[in-house]
Amino acid sequence: MLNAIGSGIDLSDGEASDYYYLVADLLESETVKQMQDYIHHGDTTCFQHCLNVSYYNYKVCRFFSLNARAGARAGLLHDLFLYDWHTYKRKKGERLHGFTHAKTALKNVREHFYVSDLESDMIEKHMFPLNITALPKYRETLVIVLVDKYCGLIETVIPRAKKLSSLIVKLGARFGKASAKE
Ligand SMILES: [Fe+2]
Ligand SMILES: [Fe+2]
Repeated sequence: MLNAIGSGIDLSDGEASDYYYLVADLLESETVKQMQDYIHHGDTTCFQHCLNVSYYNYKVCRFFSLNARAGARAGLLHDLFLYDWHTYKRKKGERLHGFTHAKTALKNVREHFYVSDLESDMIEKHMFPLNITALPKYRETLVIVLVDKYCGLIETVIPRAKKLSSLIVKLGARFGKASAKE
């Protein structure tokens, strides 16, 4: 089952088929599948993060009558940097993953797939305003800037909230046992 965070829809089937057909070739690509090997935010892999951004980009672009195909495709490819940025920093002495990975992703994407000017702009500038000089040229680029940050936030917050609530449940059970003994 292929689904975006917060959505119960199987993206490879039925209702979501409009979305699936736009990205089927990318989803079947071994290069895109490599993103499953790297954790991005919390316990979310790079692949799942890109799928989340791709699906919500598609939905938002479609809602505003923008280019939903570019939204779906650029979303799925926007973080194709293909390394573990948590350890890469230490190994390479790189401190600037946030500033450099969008260009690395676009370079990798161009080696493997055809991308339009619009899709290239969306991938290269998705970190705006962190990369303040990479000004979005299209409205779809503004969409990916916002959707990427929204998905990153949800992916980071949800696992922490789950851990916190299970800790509260465990502490509650422990205090419950202690007060029952008294
Ligand atoms: Fe990114
Ligand atoms: Fe991202």
